[in-house]
Amino acid sequence: MTIESHLASLEALQTAALSELGTAEDDTAIENWRITYLGRKGRLTEVLRGLASLEPEARRTVGATSNQLKTLLEEQLAERLALLHDASMQGLASDQVDISLPGRPVDMGRYHPLTIVVREISQIFSSMGFQIAEGPEVEWDYFNFERMNIPKGHPARDQWDTLWVDSMQGQDGEYPMLLRTHTSPMQARVMDSTEPPVRVLVPGKCWRYEATDATHESQLFQVEGLVVDKGISFANLRHTLYKFARQMFGEDRKVRFRCDYFPFVEPGADMAVDCFICQGADLECKVCRGEGWIEIMGAGMVHPNVLRMSGYDPEVYSGFAFGMGAERIAMVKYGIDDIRLFYANDIRFLRQFP
Ligand code: DAH
Repeated sequence: MTIESHLASLEALQTAALSELGTAEDDTAIENWRITYLGRKGRLTEVLRGLASLEPEARRTVGATSNQLKTLLEEQLAERLALLHDASMQGLASDQVDISLPGRPVDMGRYHPLTIVVREISQIFSSMGFQIAEGPEVEWDYFNFERMNIPKGHPARDQWDTLWVDSMQGQDGEYPMLLRTHTSPMQARVMDSTEPPVRVLVPGKCWRYEATDATHESQLFQVEGLVVDKGISFANLRHTLYKFARQMFGEDRKVRFRCDYFPFVEPGADMAVDCFICQGADLECKVCRGEGWIEIMGAGMVHPNVLRMSGYDPEVYSGFAFGMGAERIAMVKYGIDDIRLFYANDIRFLRQFP
């Protein structure tokens, strides 16, 4: 073999080795490649073995070239290994959970504005020692009207027309049933089942036969209050509701009481707070409509007939009662101008409350 053919076969070996190494994709393939080209019985050794037949001068030349090729192949091997290793690390990296990604947003539930307001009202009265009670939404005519000093044929019944439920047939006649028009019947239920003193707050749903508009709904939420004890006076009523108004609407609120008529109280009153939005200065005010006062509830001294029907002696006991619409309180507090929004289930409206 001539020196030229030796050098040519070394060149061919280099070309083949490098192109094959480029296609080795894993550790096994690379190890096989190493054995094929650089192993003890590999192709490079084979070439070197043939050197024996060369002249010393030629042997040195071919030997040097072979050594260069060996070094080159070893370097390329190390590089290829490093490359594959890097790539597999990248594969691992892309597989793993990226803890720096922000989580998917959780849809947070919120309280309905009426819930917020009723809880706030309840909390204020609880702090004054009131107990919270709830009553039936489907109520007897008897409690809703008769026990509230509104007998059959009383003109006040027209004001509180409602949805009637099939009445019960009793031995002594018919017992009409209805969706309660106010939470006031709970006054009688509470007094029937407890001895004075009474200090109770009754939140609950009510219904009325009502043409719906921006300020009227056929479904509403009321909060009723009742206090009965020896020596309860109108001064107690005033002070309690004044305290409430200031906690609910701000420490510098003024309150106004005017005569009003409710069959179950005597005297009866409507209570208003001064407008905390415009203080009466804005004739276009959305909340007070320029009046400067916002009516927030009805109240009064419990009528002797109502006490008597529960077996409370009006000569010994006296009390006051009040009732407010939660929608009205929320509308005033949050500046909401349409009562229908409370029951429309529009998420854009509901999202606005803290
Ligand atoms: N029940 C009355 C209504 O629905 C509100 C009310 C007024 C309740 C005066 C009371 C009261 O307890 O004393 O319009």
